[in-house]
Amino acid sequence: MSKKASWVSRFSFYLLAVGSACGLGNIWRFPYVIGENGGGAFLLLYIFLAFTVGLSILVAELILGRSGEFSLLKITKLVSLQAKKPFYWFGRLSILINVVILAYYSVISGWVLHYLTQFIVGIVNENRIAYISSINMEALKNSGSLQFSLASVHLLICGFVVAKGVIERFEKIFAQALPILAVLFIVLIIRSFSLDSTSDVMRFLFYPDFSKLNLSSLGRALGHVFFTLSLGMGIMVTYGTYFKNDEHLPSVGFRVTTIDTIVSIMALLMVFPIAFLSDSNHYFTDPGILFESLPRLFVKIQYGEFFGFLFFLCLWLAAVNASIGLLETLIANFSDKFHKISRNQSTFMTITGVLLLMIFPAFSGTLFSKFKWFNQSFMENLDSLLINYLLPISGLGIIVIFFHLLNETERKEKFIDATGKNSQAMYRHWIWILKWFSPVLIGLAILLQFVNLFR
Ligand code: PHE
Repeated sequence: MSKKASWVSRFSFYLLAVGSACGLGNIWRFPYVIGENGGGAFLLLYIFLAFTVGLSILVAELILGRSGEFSLLKITKLVSLQAKKPFYWFGRLSILINVVILAYYSVISGWVLHYLTQFIVGIVNENRIAYISSINMEALKNSGSLQFSLASVHLLICGFVVAKGVIERFEKIFAQALPILAVLFIVLIIRSFSLDSTSDVMRFLFYPDFSKLNLSSLGRALGHVFFTLSLGMGIMVTYGTYFKNDEHLPSVGFRVTTIDTIVSIMALLMVFPIAFLSDSNHYFTDPGILFESLPRLFVKIQYGEFFGFLFFLCLWLAAVNASIGLLETLIANFSDKFHKISRNQSTFMTITGVLLLMIFPAFSGTLFSKFKWFNQSFMENLDSLLINYLLPISGLGIIVIFFHLLNETERKEKFIDATGKNSQAMYRHWIWILKWFSPVLIGLAILLQFVNLFR
């Protein structure tokens, strides 16, 4: 292979892993989770967990992928048979989480589509400025069927990309969108920073006030680490199979975690200065913070309607990319389980199942608005159950499977690079974090959240 070709393919593998990690989790979810949990201290906790628990499990997933099997369901079955223990439940749990997250993620991607169309209307509208300033979430909040329809459009497009085998073509488009998104990000951050609120925002984000942490902070930070790095569902296991043998997977994991964290922090710098200008505090903790803030920022920029359109287009492509990862993993598992079914049939069945499930998050604010537990809406409870409880438990499953599947020699061989310079020492740290530190923290996080719920 020519030098250029191997560089290009190397880049595209990175794109897959980074693309699955960076998405709505960083840009939409992270700002409101930080707002909800009081800023700086939580941010520090999050970064610490991302580079310990998150990174170590990410590397374990990538290495599991290299050990030959494609789907987590298959791996858990294999280990179950070997160990004669019902570890296949971990595989089943990961599939369940995968389906529900895809349903939930599609609804939020539908919100992005709504904004995208609004900005298109903004471009052709006579009074552009007035139109953009009027863009908000009201229409979405009041209509479950609008949310459901948009989410369906999103999911069907993803299904089309997967079923027609045009993923590679999509990846190319996505690769071109990334630099545009990066430039837009920087322009928006600069604009955001020229607002009056900057010093308050810097204090909020970078001056940790530890009294803001409570019993559920650990679980929330950990849950978001799993979500944003796409851990616990075997997605990174699948991507691990793509990397060539000479690629040092721990370094891949480190780079993916670093890029993901930088993107998340950039999202904070973009959203908070404008959110701080609002008089309502409730605003920071609202899942709509990104969607409410950005139009107000675009109004302040020349050709804002055009930039807004580009931004939401790129964001939607990122959401399609992450959704494709979820869908692919589901379909791969489905086809593994039912050999006789064709790929198109399994895509069709998976999509039908997810469409049905989507009814719940899409109508949570309207039809299901009466269903409230622990003072939270249906959607908030679903988010919390999935991300703060089930994902970390599934991560625990990955650890168990990892230690059962690979013995010490295999683990070492896959972790330590050819030069072996620093990786000997790193290997010991990694195993310690994976074996002791992560399980203890995951257990503690779940316990403390429970205690907080019933206090
Ligand atoms: N990591 C993705 C994001 O941050 C979300 C995701 C989670 C994608 C799980 C795939 C699997 O947007």
